[in-house]
Amino acid sequence: MSELKTVSVEDAGFCFGVRRALKLAEEATERYAEVACLGPLIHNRQVVEGLERRGMRFVEDIGEVEPGATAMIRAHGAGPQVYQDAAARRIKLMDATCPFVRRVQQAAAQFVEEQYQVFVLGEPDHPEARAIVEHAGGQALIVEGASDLAGTQIADRVAVVCQTTQHLDKLQELVAALLPQTRELRVTNTICDATSKRQEASLRLAVDVDLMIVIGGYHSANTTRLAQICAATGTPTKHIETADELCQEWLRGVKVVGLTAGASTPDEAIEAVRERLGTLSAGATGGDADAENPR
Ligand code: F3S
Repeated sequence: MSELKTVSVEDAGFCFGVRRALKLAEEATERYAEVACLGPLIHNRQVVEGLERRGMRFVEDIGEVEPGATAMIRAHGAGPQVYQDAAARRIKLMDATCPFVRRVQQAAAQFVEEQYQVFVLGEPDHPEARAIVEHAGGQALIVEGASDLAGTQIADRVAVVCQTTQHLDKLQELVAALLPQTRELRVTNTICDATSKRQEASLRLAVDVDLMIVIGGYHSANTTRLAQICAATGTPTKHIETADELCQEWLRGVKVVGLTAGASTPDEAIEAVRERLGTLSAGATGGDADAENPR
């Protein structure tokens, strides 16, 4: 195998919102003997395990937190009921909701107040999308794309917001589908800048390489979206969480590997992948046995 070249997307790794959430979480574990986080702080298993080692507990519901204790709201946000329950039970909240996610919650709530029919472009089971709907008083509808509109009565006044990790193409499709069916359409493009820049840079890189490796949590919406975008270019694409999953088989005939990572992927995870790619490539040159692929 000739020497393998690895090219990374600029700005891969933690985004502003994730850095902020982690800083708050680390402060919380230093300051309080017990802190419970409502769901995973970010969608990265290794980071969550690291916080558990620092003493953070992860719970599904605010009801599992003792009155008077401290709880953290994850970067994806939470619905208003969580804030009300915490206040009623004197639970101190540390709020790691990303400010860009809060902007979507506020926009959706405002549109409902102004009596628009509100659509949230997002994933129905994603905690961020669900919390946006809760902030809209349960009166917004999550759609994954234009095809989800089939069978829905469209009102005369419609508003659209999106989960921060969506792709602009999908928003454009949804807007194009709605426009002929309504008289007034308000669109707030709430796709986060960190997301769109990473998506564009990953797309540009994917068309120029033989293999794309996308690093990040399997539950991370923005990482999964990156993998979909890269795969759609036709370039073989692998989504992995850690360097151990890399397989020498994938490198057969590959000269240039592109690396990108979700907004919740630590720099160390990216560096570990880069190093292991070097080892695998050297191993192939030296005729070492293939690594086992765990996926
Ligand atoms: Fe926030 Fe955007 Fe990151 S919404 S958590 S800065 S991907």
